Amino acid sequence: MASGCRIGPSILNSDLAALGAECSRMLDCGADYLHLDVMDGHFVPNITFGHPVVESLRKQLGQEPFFDMHMMVARPEQWVKPMAVAGANQYTFHLEATDNPGALIKDIRENGMKSCPCCHPKVQLGFVLPLLQVGLAIKPATTVDQLAPWANQIDMALVMTVEPGFGGQKFMEDMMPKVQWLRTQFPSLDIEVDGGVGPDTIHKCAEAGANMIVSGSAIMKSADPRSVINLLRNVCSEAAQKRCLDR
Ligand code: DX5
Ligand code: ZN
Repeated sequence: MASGCRIGPSILNSDLAALGAECSRMLDCGADYLHLDVMDGHFVPNITFGHPVVESLRKQLGQEPFFDMHMMVARPEQWVKPMAVAGANQYTFHLEATDNPGALIKDIRENGMKSCPCCHPKVQLGFVLPLLQVGLAIKPATTVDQLAPWANQIDMALVMTVEPGFGGQKFMEDMMPKVQWLRTQFPSLDIEVDGGVGPDTIHKCAEAGANMIVSGSAIMKSADPRSVINLLRNVCSEAAQKRCLDR
């Protein structure tokens, strides 16, 4: 099976003027990882932040939190090394944004711990850069057949459940067959869903087989984010256990 059910709040709709504090708040409320949305105004019609902000967050939050970088950018090749150095843990790029996914996957793997032992100042000072994991995302119009050839080479598949670009959109339930198919074909693959996921839609995602749950506005706008995170995790874990028993 994939490695457990994890909840990753998306900080896109948080108070961005207090991003570090918002991330800490999510971690204090039990977030398993942070889903950081990078948008460049080309791949999607919106702009957020880049690797300098990630570096600052890493400094402020320490080495522990897992940073899943959702790279909604054109030419994702150009940011692998800067993100690795800034302290990203997972580089999730869009299949639609590259002509050569195989080369990019290889590059991401090589830019983890092994990337800069001779030249990077943090390594010389005794810090070790984390291994960079590979996430591969598909937009709603991209079929799962297009992702399948890469599934054995990646750590996580991200099935978008909205058009990427903005938080607070409506969940696309018709993406669930993609998740279901991936779960059947690749039982040990981490599968993430992102977009419109919250207490009302988590059951569909969990039953389909997603185990990494991104949730933005449903967590951020809640008066009790801890309960929302717990609820999402419980629903997801129960569905995973049921799948195990049914096998
Ligand atoms: C949308 C982003 C999402 C977004 C999710 O393009 O990738 O991560 O912030 O937010 P909600 O959960 O509000 O749809
Ligand atoms: Zn995202």
